Amino acid sequence: MRILGIESSCDETAAAVVEDGAAVVSSVVASQLSTHGPYGGVVPELASREHLRAIVPVVRAALERAGTDFTGLAAVAATAGPGLVGSLLVGLTYAKSLAFARGLPLIAVNHIEGHIHAVLLEAKREGLPVRFPALALVVSGGHTHLFEVSERFDYRLLGKTRDDAAGEAFDKVAKLLGFSYPGGPVIDLLAPHGNPRAVRFTPAKMKGNTLDFSFSGLKTAVLRWVEARGMREEIDARRRLLKTTPHPGTEQWLEATPPATLDLLASFQRTVVDELLRRATAAAEQIEANAMIVSGGVACNTGLRAAAREARLPCPVYFPSPGLSTDNAAMIAAAAFPKYERGEFSGLDARAQANLTLALQ
Ligand code: KG4
Ligand code: ZN
Repeated sequence: MRILGIESSCDETAAAVVEDGAAVVSSVVASQLSTHGPYGGVVPELASREHLRAIVPVVRAALERAGTDFTGLAAVAATAGPGLVGSLLVGLTYAKSLAFARGLPLIAVNHIEGHIHAVLLEAKREGLPVRFPALALVVSGGHTHLFEVSERFDYRLLGKTRDDAAGEAFDKVAKLLGFSYPGGPVIDLLAPHGNPRAVRFTPAKMKGNTLDFSFSGLKTAVLRWVEARGMREEIDARRRLLKTTPHPGTEQWLEATPPATLDLLASFQRTVVDELLRRATAAAEQIEANAMIVSGGVACNTGLRAAAREARLPCPVYFPSPGLSTDNAAMIAAAAFPKYERGEFSGLDARAQANLTLALQ
């Protein structure tokens, strides 16, 4: 039973064919990094235009690599939100037109649910099915959420960021220091070269729901640190490096980054990782979780993976492989599978919703 998944919520145009919610038959991701990189963030208008260019060839490639045409599909699934509305519209509208033209059921999927299913998909494939209730930490450029996930895939929101998402904090700190976009991978690369205990950041204290996150204070603390040291020349040198070398390697970054800045990066990453794991652990204990799922772009972070392995967590923890951590369409097709089994189809009036929520608190 094969589902075609389509994802276009942010800056990746992706399509994938997934069988029985477990086997990724094909997965194609067209990244727009080179378009947005020079701007240090995603430019919504450019994203929509790039999706329009990529959607037809990306879907065609996913079908070709799966060795199938539309007759081999049981349904078409697409991300309906949350995300950039112009971007979402491209994928969802294309999915609707395919469903209509080929007489296939349409399944609208929440992007965050997709991230959770990226982990469930791999666990199922490897014969290590996740036990429920599970605690899901979805941590990306747009989201930092803790959910309770039931066996029926009902979701309860336990905590979320009150300001920046964790990935956004990585991106903003990297940008402020003159590193490339997205900032997560470059900080991850350089953090092991610094001392994670060198700079002390005060952890955010949350009034009200103690499972909520806040990263804007940390970002401001980094800004203050930078201002106090007058790092203009160093930052400009990295910006110049980026102009001549759009993708510097580790050696080039290290040459352009003095030890004190490496210490700052290491300490920043450690603080984010500690905050994420501290609250995820508390949430897992609160719901007596049998599994912890970490997903979204920041789940690629090697510091987070290492800390989760070393921490005394109350239950087993699951991370997706890096290719399934960042935005992709296999996770959308996988999330659609239980909906297909339950006959939860969407009409052709399904709407793209920038602020679509997965669950209420
Ligand atoms: O899931 P994703 O591809 O898109 C969203 O739904 O936002 O996540 C992208 C985010 C970016 O903020 C990026 O900096 C972050 O994930 N990211 C990382 C790493 N790789 C990607 N953050 C920390 N460490 C990484 N290795
Ligand atoms: Zn995402």
